[in-house]
Amino acid sequence: MSSQQDEFSGRTVVVTGASGGIGSVIAQAFRELTADVLLIDADPRVQETAECMGARWMVGDLRQPEVAREAINTAAEESGRLDVLVNAAGVQLRKDAIDVDEDEWQRLLDINLSAVYRLMRAAADPLSRVQGSIINITSMAAERVLPRIVPYGATKAALVQLSRGLAVELGPQGVRVNAVAPGYITTPMTQDNLAKPEVLGPIMTRLPLQRLGTPADVAEVVLFLASDAARYVTGAVVPVDGGYSLT
Ligand SMILES: NC(=O)c1ccc[n+]([C@@H]2O[C@H](COP(=O)([O-])OP(=O)(O)OC[C@H]3O[C@@H](n4cnc5c(N)ncnc54)[C@H](O)[C@@H]3O)[C@@H](O)[C@H]2O)c1
Repeated sequence: MSSQQDEFSGRTVVVTGASGGIGSVIAQAFRELTADVLLIDADPRVQETAECMGARWMVGDLRQPEVAREAINTAAEESGRLDVLVNAAGVQLRKDAIDVDEDEWQRLLDINLSAVYRLMRAAADPLSRVQGSIINITSMAAERVLPRIVPYGATKAALVQLSRGLAVELGPQGVRVNAVAPGYITTPMTQDNLAKPEVLGPIMTRLPLQRLGTPADVAEVVLFLASDAARYVTGAVVPVDGGYSLT
C-alpha cells in the first residue's frame, strides 16, 4: 500500500460538480486511494458516475442555500468526519461582458462564488476537528483577461480572494485552504469551443507545454494539496495550465 493510500483510506472527501469533467476525475482519484467519497452535482448523471467508482452521491442544486449544509452533513454522517472538500462545480458563460443579462450574471455569482462560500462555511467546523483541507477550482481567467468570459473570470477572481482569506482565518484551526487554477482543460464545459480550429490554433501557439490539459492533470495537483506532503501549504493558487498564463 502506498503512503498516499494510507493517508486517504477511510477519510471522507466531498467533491462538488462531480458528474463529469474535472470533478469526476478528482473523485475517482480519491476513490482509488480508498477514500470515502461523496459526489455532488445538479446533474442526476452523478449517480451513475458515483456508482461506477463505488462512491456515494447526492443530486442537488448548490444555488439552494440548504443544499450546502445537507451535503456536509450527509458526507459526515457515516464516518462522523470530513477531511477534504473539493469545490469543482462551476459554470461558464461565453459572451461579451456588456451583453450579459441580470439572470446570467446572478447565475454565475450564485454557482461560482456564493455556493462555494456556503460550502466552505458549513465545512469549516468538521474540517477543523481533523485538520482537514479545502481545495477550490478557480481558473486562469481569474488573473488573465480572456475574451468572452470576463464575468466568469470575475467570479473566479473573487473565489481566489475568498480562498486566500479563509486560509488566513482558518489556519489557526489547522484547516488549509488552497486553490487550483486550470488553464485549457478538455471537458464537457470546453470541448466544443476547443474543437474549433480558430480557437485552438491561437491557444496552441502560446502554450509552452504544447498540449491541452486533461482532468487528470488537475486531479494530481488536488491530491497533492490535500495530502500531508502539502501540510505547510495554505492560501496557494496553483496554476495547472501548461504555462499558458506566462505567455
Ligand atoms: N475545463 C476547463 O478548461 C476549466 C478551466 C478553468 C477552470 N475550470 C473550472 O473547473 C471546474 C470544473 O469544470 P469542468 O471543466 O469539469 O466543467 P463541467 O461542466 O464538466 O463540470 C462542472 C459541473 O458542475 C456542475 N454544476 C453546475 N452548476 C451546478 C449547481 N448549481 N449545483 C451543482 N452542480 C452544478 C455541472 O452539472 C457539472 O457537472 C469548474 O469550476 C470550472 O469553472 C475549468
